[in-house]
Amino acid sequence: MINILFAATDSRWPEYAAPLRKALDALGLHYVLSRELAPEDVDYIVYAPNSDVQDFRPYTRLKAVLNLWAGVEKVTQNPTLTVPLARMVDDEGLTQGMVEYVTGHVLRHHLGMDAHIVNPGHDWPKLTPPLASERPVTILGLGTLGVACAKALRTLGFPVTGWSRSPKQVDGVRCLHGMDQLDKALETAQILVLLLPDTPATTDLLNAERLARLPKGAMIVNPGRGPLIDDAALVAALDDGQIAHATLDVFRIEPLPQDHPFWAHPKVTVTPHIASETRAPSAARVIAENIRRGEVGEPFLHLVDRTAGY
Ligand SMILES: NC(=O)c1ccc[n+]([C@@H]2O[C@H](COP(=O)([O-])OP(=O)(O)OC[C@H]3O[C@@H](n4cnc5c(N)ncnc54)[C@H](OP(=O)(O)O)[C@@H]3O)[C@@H](O)[C@H]2O)c1
Repeated sequence: MINILFAATDSRWPEYAAPLRKALDALGLHYVLSRELAPEDVDYIVYAPNSDVQDFRPYTRLKAVLNLWAGVEKVTQNPTLTVPLARMVDDEGLTQGMVEYVTGHVLRHHLGMDAHIVNPGHDWPKLTPPLASERPVTILGLGTLGVACAKALRTLGFPVTGWSRSPKQVDGVRCLHGMDQLDKALETAQILVLLLPDTPATTDLLNAERLARLPKGAMIVNPGRGPLIDDAALVAALDDGQIAHATLDVFRIEPLPQDHPFWAHPKVTVTPHIASETRAPSAARVIAENIRRGEVGEPFLHLVDRTAGY
């Protein structure tokens, strides 16, 4: 019998219980799935980093922690976790949702939609936007989500540059990597999309100096993580016109405090960390497959590199 602890906030259990059981049954696994198991009996933890489980030491026979989220910054540094940690890669749900968010917000900025959606003066300005082929987009982060967004934007006709830590090849996408090539990635970015993880190496990556490297009037879409941007530097760059608009989904503190300048800034759009959610039916299949692998000794999918922090 495989003992699986579901450790996430209360509201997630009704959402995940049935899809997880369906996915585990489909693989023919014999299991107990519960929110309450004696720690010493638990084989796998299906985990959200905001759950009550923060000390993994009592889980003496634990084989793996299977994260429900793509972002793992709240668990990678946990010194009590000594077993493999897998992050969520959910192509049908999470990845597709991010592609929709990113393409939607890139197109909003590209087409200048706001001028028509809110037009109290009934203005009739003939401002033809450039074609997508004339609007270079850069994506910082060419992982699961960055690559999927790069391909979708490429299909729409945008010239896309992607930037990552290690060299990458993605058809039709100019791929740059490493700190040496970051400026090059920024210099052409009329629209900049941030899909990097939150690690010590990415904190404040977009600081005043790098914001100044972007073409004047660039627009930013950040569904990655809040600490990627120096908030004060961004507000200054918005105020002096260097950056025309920032659409921000993630923040250093969430919910974004009421008195944070982003809320009132006319050139900032705040979305409440909704860029993309893990979707229970498809995510449950990913979790079940990893448990199957653990039971037959196959390598786990989507393992986190704890040293790199993602
Ligand atoms: N807002 C939301 O709703 C939401 C939802 C899901 C995820 N997210 C965020 O999106 C992030 C990305 O997810 P993912 O699944 O695409 O992650 P991933 O597959 O791990 O990809 C991360 C990418 O970032 C690159 N990277 C990491 N550190 C770097 C550094 N120091 N310099 C340059 N590149 C670096 C990696 O480079 P390599 O390819 O060389 O490793 C990789 O290309 C998550 O970590 C999470 O924070 C947000």
